[in-house]
Amino acid sequence: MGAVVCASTAHINMDENGAPERIGGIKLLQVPTADGKLTPELIDKEAWGWGDEHRAQPLAVSITQTTELGTCYTPDEVRAIAEHVHAKGMKLHMDGARLANAAAHLDVPLRAFTRDAGVDILSFGGTKNGLLFGEVVVALNPAAAQGLIYLRKMNMQLASKMRFMSAQFIALLEGDLWLRSAAHANAMAARLRAASSPFPASN
Ligand SMILES: Cc1ncc(COP(=O)(O)O)c(C=O)c1O
Repeated sequence: MGAVVCASTAHINMDENGAPERIGGIKLLQVPTADGKLTPELIDKEAWGWGDEHRAQPLAVSITQTTELGTCYTPDEVRAIAEHVHAKGMKLHMDGARLANAAAHLDVPLRAFTRDAGVDILSFGGTKNGLLFGEVVVALNPAAAQGLIYLRKMNMQLASKMRFMSAQFIALLEGDLWLRSAAHANAMAARLRAASSPFPASN
């Protein structure tokens, strides 16, 4: 067990009622940010203290794509974080509850800001992409997959009849439904913002 560095606005920090700490045994090391996005410099505010038995050992960084504030990491920004994190012997997790929205916004393939950018493990959000429920955990780095099925069961995330949940992803991903739905959601969000805010949309 150890610590995970995340933005103070991260969903895992703000909206899970302490579940990462209670269920995962993970200490979250939160970093304030201007826009919900971590950078190598911001990560370094909390990524320290290895070998100090008094401090939870930073093992991973978690970033959210798109962020809880509606901002989006570019592929280069993710790559810079991944390289920084890996150089410190840590892993990079991406909370992709809105991964499809990021792909639609950036107009690049999913892999450009995930696998190709060095992300070790991510969640692909179905709930916010039109599914009834369901998220997929994708271990891009085989090392991050070690023991994952046991953790899933142990943490009561292996539902019976899981295949019915999983089947939704076939419909979502076999064509471009995931991307069309996300592009539509982005367009509606932009419309809502334009109608309700005096501020212009930002990245
Ligand atoms: C950024 C982020 N991560 C994770 C979650 C959790 O998603 P779910 O409750 O659908 O598993 C949410 C849901 O609001 C979210 O916004």
